[in-house]
Amino acid sequence: MSEVGSGGLGKPIEWSWRPNAGATEALRYLGHRFSNMAKLPPAGRLTLSWVGKDRALLGTDGGGYEWVDRNDPRVTEIRLLQCSESVGELPGESLASGNMLVVGDAYDGLNALARIPEYADHLRGKVKLIYIDPPFNTGQAFAQYDDALEHSVWLTMMRDRLLLLRDLLAPNGSLWVHLDDAEMAYCRVLLDEVFGRGNFIASVVWQKIHGRNNSAQHFSAVHDYLLVYAADRSRFKLGRVERTELSDSDFWNPDNDSRGRWRRSDLTASHAYEDGRYEVTGPHGDVFTPRGNRWWSVSPQTFGQLRADDRLWWGRTGRTFPFRKRFESELGGLVPNTLWSHDEVGDNREAKAEITRLFGRDAIFSTPKPERLLKRVISVGSEPGDLVLDCFAGSGTTAAVAHKMGRRWVTIEKEGSTVDAFTRPRLEKVLAGEDSGGVTASVGWEKGGGFHILEVRPSLYEVVDGRAFLAEWATNGAFAEGVAAQLGFRVEHDAPFSGRKGRTRLAVIDGVIDGDVVGAIVSRLGEGERTVLVGKGATADAADVLKSLSPGSRLRKAPRDLLKPGVVR
Ligand SMILES: C[S@@+](CC[C@H](N)C(=O)[O-])C[C@H]1O[C@@H](n2cnc3c(N)ncnc32)[C@H](O)[C@@H]1O
Repeated sequence: MSEVGSGGLGKPIEWSWRPNAGATEALRYLGHRFSNMAKLPPAGRLTLSWVGKDRALLGTDGGGYEWVDRNDPRVTEIRLLQCSESVGELPGESLASGNMLVVGDAYDGLNALARIPEYADHLRGKVKLIYIDPPFNTGQAFAQYDDALEHSVWLTMMRDRLLLLRDLLAPNGSLWVHLDDAEMAYCRVLLDEVFGRGNFIASVVWQKIHGRNNSAQHFSAVHDYLLVYAADRSRFKLGRVERTELSDSDFWNPDNDSRGRWRRSDLTASHAYEDGRYEVTGPHGDVFTPRGNRWWSVSPQTFGQLRADDRLWWGRTGRTFPFRKRFESELGGLVPNTLWSHDEVGDNREAKAEITRLFGRDAIFSTPKPERLLKRVISVGSEPGDLVLDCFAGSGTTAAVAHKMGRRWVTIEKEGSTVDAFTRPRLEKVLAGEDSGGVTASVGWEKGGGFHILEVRPSLYEVVDGRAFLAEWATNGAFAEGVAAQLGFRVEHDAPFSGRKGRTRLAVIDGVIDGDVVGAIVSRLGEGERTVLVGKGATADAADVLKSLSPGSRLRKAPRDLLKPGVVR
């Protein structure tokens, strides 16, 4: 194992955390160390504070989290993604432009997607809609995952994933966070901090239970929340919801108008209007004008145009006060409201029935969401062809509905057993046209498409007594790819080089770099090119040889020179 020495980035990197340091003190401390990176909130801004806010979390093998310092290399590193399989039809697509099911922690998956150039090119700032349904922190243990994190662990877990989600969101995109009362209020303040309070769009209430629990201690809770934030409120446009039979029930066509069904719309308003008091004459000579504190809502000219275009209704007799005809075919969708009832978008029971229909009675996933709920979110938050992301996939409802609705998608799930039992087989059924339930009929889905399955690779580092060593798997090609990811190089296999950033080529040596190695690498550089040469060690003369042969090229030692300081945001 190669050990981290001190002085790798010019100064020693100190990342052992200080258990008793308060948040402010620690922020000041880190701000002093990395003054260009530390971003303290402006004085006077309302922020949520919690124990450990200045620290980070590392996933444990048991599925939980342990506190670590923000500069722990296992937090600041960029994990690699490995494509283990491709499913269905993916005609000639590059991996990152296709649909992706990522198996691993959302933090590692999102970090890789946002920072490794091959993925970031397709995803960073390009995701139109993010819907997440994280563990609510209800204190329960579900069959597939534990939902009882310590409050500050939950907040830190969410904060670090929300920061990455923000980087992936398109400037005109939106983020929807599904929660219940356990953490909704805290998460809203956290979202204000991450996305800016001005970008809050709405808090939608979803009726998740159609009924009542009469043995509840106090209230029978029947709703969840969807907190909606825009990346930038001024650029966000919310779509309309489909007109329902209920909202359309008052359309008719008693005069057999060839433009189809229409409904009556009032031609008067209660606000005074300069041109709003005039007399009109009906088909049989009756004269009408608004009375009391009502005025015409259109000018005499507009009224004349409506008359000429047969857009006025004077009643069946032709003698009643006129109304405007509003044609069904000319009306767009409805502005969504913030209360979504079970009959419009389904409830928990419907979601469970969808899982049972796909996998049988014995396959129990505890917290699925109904496809109609996701259909509503996806239809108002995105357009066909847009990219939709969910980093708490569960049974895969978001990806399944996005696929059926012609969106591209990325979804991440931590539990391999959930992916094997639900997420993956569900998506395979959608592709194969073997899922006739959920929204399949209403969106006209048949079959087709494909997706890649990617696994988050283990950490590049092992940490022993506060010191980082390269992990044993980091050899040869895997080591070179790991180095490329940490240093932001695009992987390019062209021996002896393994990556490129503009005119700079990356050469990674799985061993010690000496003068001969330097000479051999430099001799392969093209006109005007430089190299970053990374090895697990270097002889004393190697740096000088490189400087004389290729000024501007750099020698780096792994892991020491790969480590980054954590950013306090
Ligand atoms: C409430 S469920 C999502 C249910 C999903 N919306 C559906 O319709 O099936 C939350 C999921 O997030 C997963 N999860 C929890 N922590 C995670 C993390 N750090 N990274 C990725 N997935 C995580 C859990 O394993 C669980 O499957």
